[in-house]
Amino acid sequence: MRYVVDRMTMSDVPRVIEIERLAYPSTWPPSAYRKELQDNRWAHYIVLRDKHILEEQSAVPSESEKARKNRPFPLSLLPSRPAALAPSPDLASIVGFAGLWLMVDESHVTTIATHPGHRGLGLGEFLLVSLIDISYNIGAKWVTLEVRVSNHTAQNLYRKYGFREAGVRHRYYSDNQEDAIIMWTDEINSASYKQKFLELKATLLQKLEG
Ligand SMILES: CC(C)(COP(=O)(O)OP(=O)(O)OC[C@H]1O[C@@H](n2cnc3c(N)ncnc32)[C@H](O)[C@@H]1OP(=O)(O)O)[C@@H](O)C(=O)NCCC(=O)NCCS
Repeated sequence: MRYVVDRMTMSDVPRVIEIERLAYPSTWPPSAYRKELQDNRWAHYIVLRDKHILEEQSAVPSESEKARKNRPFPLSLLPSRPAALAPSPDLASIVGFAGLWLMVDESHVTTIATHPGHRGLGLGEFLLVSLIDISYNIGAKWVTLEVRVSNHTAQNLYRKYGFREAGVRHRYYSDNQEDAIIMWTDEINSASYKQKFLELKATLLQKLEG
């Protein structure tokens, strides 16, 4: 499969922040990711990688490598300085990220975003499926989140996965005082939810493999 989900590490954070800036009107301070990844044992963060980008970028020699090869012998034998500008192929291949907190038996989705250049391909859905899979693995019974009232794209995605509106948090977002809709799944271990989830997941994986 072209896309892979990995656990987010500290070295992924610069690229995550880059995507976050493109995806959200306001962003977390960079220190928030360090706290989430290193100090919060209830937090689970993932990144989504596009292996095609990884392969393409790995095949292209970096600018510093090209410069090294162009230097006259014997200088060309000296190691080149680290490329300050070009991100590593590993970082460049990250096209989305997401996270949740386990609170007792509830998974609270804290963030989910895809790079604007990679939207409409099923990748936001793949991230959500991965979060629900994690929720099963860590023993959560429900999944919940907040979403801006104006964010119809995200609401559609959540509704597709059985999230239902359960209330409103007024003026929840500090950047524009927008209200948040609170959404919850049914119990994810119920036979009906599980069956629907597995069907949706199978359809998505087929689409992404194609
Ligand atoms: C929300 C977000 C993650 C969706 O990611 P995406 O990769 O574009 O979405 P997908 O291609 O996986 O689409 C999955 C579903 O989302 C909904 N959706 C996607 N694009 C849509 C659009 N332009 N209009 C309406 N619904 C849309 C649909 O329900 C779609 O399912 P379908 O393909 O069966 O119609 C992405 O738009 C994003 O990063 N937004 C900015 C950050 C954000 O708002 N995060 C949510 C915070 S609560």
